[in-house]
This record gives sequence, structure tokens and C-alpha cells, in this order.
Amino acid sequence: MNSDLEKILLTEEQLKKKVIELGTEISSDYEGKNPLLICILRGAVIFFSDLCRAVKIPVNMDFVNLSSYNKGAFSSGEVKIRQELIADPEGKDIIIVEDIIDTGMTMEKYKQCLLDRGAGSVEICALLKKPEQKCVVDIRYKGFDIEDRFVVGYGLDYAESYRNLPYIGILKKEIYTK
Ligand code: IMP
Ligand code: MG
Repeated sequence: MNSDLEKILLTEEQLKKKVIELGTEISSDYEGKNPLLICILRGAVIFFSDLCRAVKIPVNMDFVNLSSYNKGAFSSGEVKIRQELIADPEGKDIIIVEDIIDTGMTMEKYKQCLLDRGAGSVEICALLKKPEQKCVVDIRYKGFDIEDRFVVGYGLDYAESYRNLPYIGILKKEIYTK
């Protein structure tokens, strides 16, 4: 285990099993459709690439870079589009793939943005969800409910580090409070 972690929260095996379950569910719900899977860069990139391969129906992929957290461990409450989609969302059945929902603010705002651009349907698939949800954003596909601690790994970062850990762990408090 990386020595900056307090403990491992989700192992590679647990993640793998959950991704297969989510992929299977999406495959059956979207049978006969050709959904557009949108990866929220950069945190969701590892989850996204595993999830896409667990979905057994044809999909399209696109990427958007949103910023809500700036650099540290606490939400700024603002959502900016740093890098836009290439696909036109109009009329598409969209599944937004996100790493973690904390306040839900990022997803609520981005979902509304896609609907405003004429998306046919927009659902959210999030690997992790923290308990403190201030916005009532509906998470159609959810991996794990986790405790309200700062987690890293499997794409999730703290100040751009730890994304390549193959598991998810709780970061030691002294790392982000010093
Ligand atoms: P929300 O808008 O408050 O739901 O913030 C969600 C975003 O905050 C996610 O996309 C992550 O980038 C980031 N985030 C929230 N909690 C954590 C965490 O524990 N570790 C890493 N990033 C997090
Ligand atoms: Mg993120």
C-alpha cells in the first residue's frame, strides 16, 4: 500500500466486480440504443475505460474536462468547462461517467447543461458517492456509498497525484491539511 494512505477502502477485485455489474446493467437498459458515454476528465478516466469494456452494446465515447475542485480537497461550488465535448449532445441518450459525487453540484449543473443543449436523455453513472449530498441529483448507476473521507486512486487525485493507484484508499489527513 502507498504510505500516504490510512487504509485501502476498495480493492482491485471489488472495483472490478462492481464495474462488471454496472456495465451489465447499462447494456440491458440501453439495448437497441447507441448511448453516448461522457467521461468527466480526469478523475473518471480509469473507471470509464474499464466500464466501456464492460458494456456489451455499441456506444460512442466523448470527454469533457470540468473543474469544480480547483486544487485542494474542498469543493469551490463552481463548475467551469475547461475542455468541451466534440460530439453534439442533441438528441443523444447520454450517460455521464463520473468518479465521485460529493455535494452533487458538479453533476447537477453539467446534466442541466446537456439538457439545455437538447440531449434526448441524460443519466449519471458514478463510481462513488459520499453521504453529504446537498443537491438532489439522481444517480441512476452507482458503484459504492462511501464514508465522508478524502479518497484517492483508480483515477481520483489529490493535487494531481495518486491517480494511477489500482485501488481506492483513504488519504492520511496530514497529507492534505499540512
Ligand atoms: P461535487 O460537485 O461536490 O459533487 O464534487 C465532485 C468532484 O469533486 C469530483 O468529480 C471529484 O473531482 C472531486 N472530489 C470529491 N471528493 C473527492 C475525494 O474524496 N477525492 C478526490 N476527489 C474528490
Ligand atoms: Mg472529478
